[in-house]
Amino acid sequence: MSIEHRQKKWWKEGIVYQIYPRSFKDSNGDGIGDLQGIISKLDYISSLGIDIVWLNPIYTSPNDDNGYDISDYYSIMPEFGTMQDFDVLLNGLHQRNIKLLMDMVVNHTSDEHFWFQEARKSRTNPYYNYYHWWPAENGAPPKRFSFFDEVSNAWKFNEATNSYYLHYFSVKQPDLNWENTEVRQEVYKIMKFWLDKGVDGFRLDVISFISKDISFPEIPIHYNNDFSRYYADGPYLHKYLQEMNREVFSKYDGMSVGECVGVQSDNALSFVDADIKELDMFFHFDSVNYGYTKNEFKRPDKNGWKLGGFKEIFTKWNDVFAEKGWGSIYLGNHDQPRMVSRWGNDAPEYREVSSKLLLTFLLSMRATPYIYQGDEIGMANIKFDSIDDYRDIESINMYAQIKKQGGDLKEFLESQKITARDNARTPLQWNAELNAGFTRGVPWIKINADAPYVNVADQEKDENSVLNYFRRMVLLRNQSPALIYGDYELIDKENEQVYAYTRMWNNEKLIVVLNFTNEVVQFSMPADFLHRGTIIMNNYNQVGFNYHNILEPYQAVILQKPAINI
Ligand code: NOJ
Repeated sequence: MSIEHRQKKWWKEGIVYQIYPRSFKDSNGDGIGDLQGIISKLDYISSLGIDIVWLNPIYTSPNDDNGYDISDYYSIMPEFGTMQDFDVLLNGLHQRNIKLLMDMVVNHTSDEHFWFQEARKSRTNPYYNYYHWWPAENGAPPKRFSFFDEVSNAWKFNEATNSYYLHYFSVKQPDLNWENTEVRQEVYKIMKFWLDKGVDGFRLDVISFISKDISFPEIPIHYNNDFSRYYADGPYLHKYLQEMNREVFSKYDGMSVGECVGVQSDNALSFVDADIKELDMFFHFDSVNYGYTKNEFKRPDKNGWKLGGFKEIFTKWNDVFAEKGWGSIYLGNHDQPRMVSRWGNDAPEYREVSSKLLLTFLLSMRATPYIYQGDEIGMANIKFDSIDDYRDIESINMYAQIKKQGGDLKEFLESQKITARDNARTPLQWNAELNAGFTRGVPWIKINADAPYVNVADQEKDENSVLNYFRRMVLLRNQSPALIYGDYELIDKENEQVYAYTRMWNNEKLIVVLNFTNEVVQFSMPADFLHRGTIIMNNYNQVGFNYHNILEPYQAVILQKPAINI
């Protein structure tokens, strides 16, 4: 069979668990999670059954954007520990057969990186061309949007050089000039340094933005003010990704997953078709942006979101890779609110069951699943009332912007309860004790008040907890080629309550049935499963999925068809 997606690869079969080090576990009482904290929980991580850990950035950084502003790529952020700690962590993971994916941030550096410190001194400095500049004598720079700027302006004036530097993110995150060969060589050197240490690959931060048209024209009208789409359309993006593959990835068995903000499904294959040799897979944003108002900052659509639209997005992204390439799937991470609050239901009576439903979904689709820390126990949004509780530059600067414009701050704070990144950055809840067992000091961000009811220790003791359900679901996926590689077929497309699909591989056929509502619903089972399937997964332990095919609120079941004997 020559269909490429059926070529087996460890990164297609692996389940990724994402660790946000700042909020995972603090070992020294300074209120900030650290590497020793992660080391102390290696057995827990391993008990989940996952195969790959993705670690958010741990390099030296002034933390303007929690580590996404790197000032030294070759050292560990002192708050997190030392290089020795890192080596212990890497060994500890490898001993447990878990691979390590590092976060690599090379669209920009910190303004405190030596390169930028030099670059900003004068136009003749050898590092000046490591970054993008607009000379002031040419007048005001063309409009470029910045994600974390109080006035959304991506150009910042620098007096010593009488020019503006480009920063798609905060003023402390100047964009690197990939047009400069030296910059690219430096980046590859950094990557090789970590791969030589034994890490197993990279999650490449906003990699779709690295190439810029350095004549900085006005943004063509057909982009319709969608800056992300324009930024992801740089003229040499594919050339750089191919070069990176040639110079770095082809020399190791490492995996690459790009954060491809702005990339649409119609050109997805041009990034991950194995013949082109660029990336192994990437994160798209269609699903996490679904249900937000277009071209507005993370404002939930007043009409909510519809299951039909949700299905359409995931089906489209499955189909793109039907014959070539490979996808990733996630419903939450450190940049998104908690998945149960966004896509499930975090009311006390539904939090557990809807968390299980979402985990069933993530682990039964054809794409590498990425599970964010805390989602394995069903953690929910913290929903801060005051801007003073926020730590994230994105929320803080957007608040300042709205305030300056005399906008509706109350409405903004309400929408942040649903969409803010800090919702997912509160510490992992280990137990019902002081600070949820995260730290003996003062936590860097508040801990969710539900910790006494939502924590690892309690869930360890409960066979039916979200945590133990997650472990069973991981096991099932690991044992089922149909769930990993099998064909996906959407059933009953128009159904606005139930998301159902089959997965088929050789003579194994499964059906996944997910009731996304808080109501009891009836589902018409397709003929070949009617009265014939064996239930192999069910998030309601007492309630079977009976012959009338009645689904309880947020019920998730997987049925297996008796094997066809050929
Ligand atoms: C994406 C990262 O995931 C996010 O946390 C960060 O703020 C931006 N890229 C900028 O690096």
